[in-house]
Amino acid sequence: MTANSLRVEWGDPHANIDSHDTYTTGFPHAAFARMRDEAPVSWVEEADGSGYWAVTKHADVVEVSRDFKRFTASRGIRIEQMSPDELEARRTMMEHDPPEHTRLRRLVSPNFTPKVVATYEAAFRKLASHVLDRVLPLGEFDFVTEIARELPIRLLCRLLGVPESDAGKLVAWGDQMISNADPEYTPVIIDKVDTEEYRLLPFRSPAALEVFRYAEQAALERRNDPKDDILSDMLASEPDGEPLTDLEFKNFFTLMMVAGNETTRHTISHGLVFLKDNPDQLEMWQEDPSAISEVATEEILRASSVTMHFRRTATEDTEIRGVPISKGDRVVMWYTSANYDEDEFEDPFTFDLKRHPNHHVTFGTGRHVCLGAALARLEVRIVFEELLSRVESYQLGEPDLLRSNFIRGIKHLPVKVELS
Ligand code: HEM
Repeated sequence: MTANSLRVEWGDPHANIDSHDTYTTGFPHAAFARMRDEAPVSWVEEADGSGYWAVTKHADVVEVSRDFKRFTASRGIRIEQMSPDELEARRTMMEHDPPEHTRLRRLVSPNFTPKVVATYEAAFRKLASHVLDRVLPLGEFDFVTEIARELPIRLLCRLLGVPESDAGKLVAWGDQMISNADPEYTPVIIDKVDTEEYRLLPFRSPAALEVFRYAEQAALERRNDPKDDILSDMLASEPDGEPLTDLEFKNFFTLMMVAGNETTRHTISHGLVFLKDNPDQLEMWQEDPSAISEVATEEILRASSVTMHFRRTATEDTEIRGVPISKGDRVVMWYTSANYDEDEFEDPFTFDLKRHPNHHVTFGTGRHVCLGAALARLEVRIVFEELLSRVESYQLGEPDLLRSNFIRGIKHLPVKVELS
C-alpha cells in the first residue's frame, strides 16, 4: 500500500453489485470505477428478471436526490420492490415526498439542528472518555464491540429518553434488522430464508416486533407522563392536526434506532482502519487532535461512506445523463461510488485529512438529507479527538466485514493499543 492511499479492494471489475456476498471482501471499487467510466447510469438485472438503474456519478446522485418531483421516495427507498400493503405498513418520513415529508420531518428536526446538537457535545465527550478509559487499558480488544458499537447507541438512548441500560438490547435488535443479510446477526437471513410472514415489518425482520413492543411501552409511559425528550415531543405534536398514529410512531422509533446508531459506529471503525493505513495522516492528526478534527471528520465520512445507496422511482419518462428512464423505473443512487468519483474529487483514492472542498454525499442531499448529520459528525469527531489524545500507536487485525449490499459495515476489528 502506498502512502496516503485508501484501502481499495479492487477485485473483480464485473462483480455483482447486487449480491450481499460481494461486500464481505470489501467495497467492489473496480466494478464501480468501470461503471462510472463506461456506463454511469447502468441497468442492473436482478435474479428474478426485473432490474433497476444504478446511478454511480456524483453529479447524477445529486440530481436525482434533489428532484423529488421526477424521482419520488414514496415508492420505497431500498432496492427491493414492495407491494402497496408492505409499503404502507413500513412507511416512515423517508418514504414520503413534500409536503407530507416536510410536516413529518419538522416533528423531530428541531432536536437535530447543528446548534442544538452542539449542546450534546459535553455529554458525549464524557461518555466517550468514560468508555475509552475503561476499555483502552485492556490493551487488546475488539474495537467494534467495545467502543464503536457502544457509543452512538448510548447517546441516542439519552436523546430519546430511554434508559441507557437498555442500550445492549436496542443495539442487538438494530443489528438484527439492518444487518438482515448477515448470519452472525440474524437467523432470518433475508435472501436465504422465507421472510414472507414478516413482510409488513421494517426490514422484514422479526426483531421489529420487539422494537415495536418497546416503542409501545415508551409511548404509554409518555402519554401518561410527558418527559423532556424527543419521544415525548413526537407524541405531543400533531403534524396534520392529528397526532401520529401508533404505527407511525413505532416506525419512527425504529427508524431513529437504526439510522442513529448502525451508521455512525461503522464510520468510526472505518476511520481507525484508514488512519492505520496512512501513518503520516495519523501522525499529523495526533500532533494536535482538535486542530483539524472537523475537516478530518469529513474525509472519514467521505471515504467510509457506509450507507452505500438509497433508491427513488421515476414518476415520468425522463433521462439521466442522456440515458432514457421510464416512468416507474427504480433508480438507485450509489453514494459510495459517488464519493470516489474522479470528476468531483481530486485523487479520490487518496486519504487526505485536510481535503477541501469535500462535497461528499455520505448523508445524501436534498429534502431527505440525513437528519442526524450534525450528530454523526459530532460523534465521529469527538471519538477521534479523545482516542488520539490517549493512544500513541496501535496495531489492527483484519476487519471482519458485514454481509450487506446496503451498509458498508465492520463487524469486528481486533486492535492492540499502546497508550501515550
Ligand atoms: C455516519 C452516519 C450516518 C450516515 C452515513 C447516514 C446516512 C443517511 C443518508 C444517506 C440519508 C438520506 C436518505 C435518502 O436520501 O433517502 C439519511 C437520512 C436520515 N438519517 Fe442518517 N446517516 C447517519 C447518521 C444518522 C444519525 C446519527 C441519525 C439520527 C439520530 C440519522 C437519522 C436519519 C433520518 C431520520 C433520515 C431520514 C431523513 C429524511 O427522510 O428526511 N442518521 N441518513
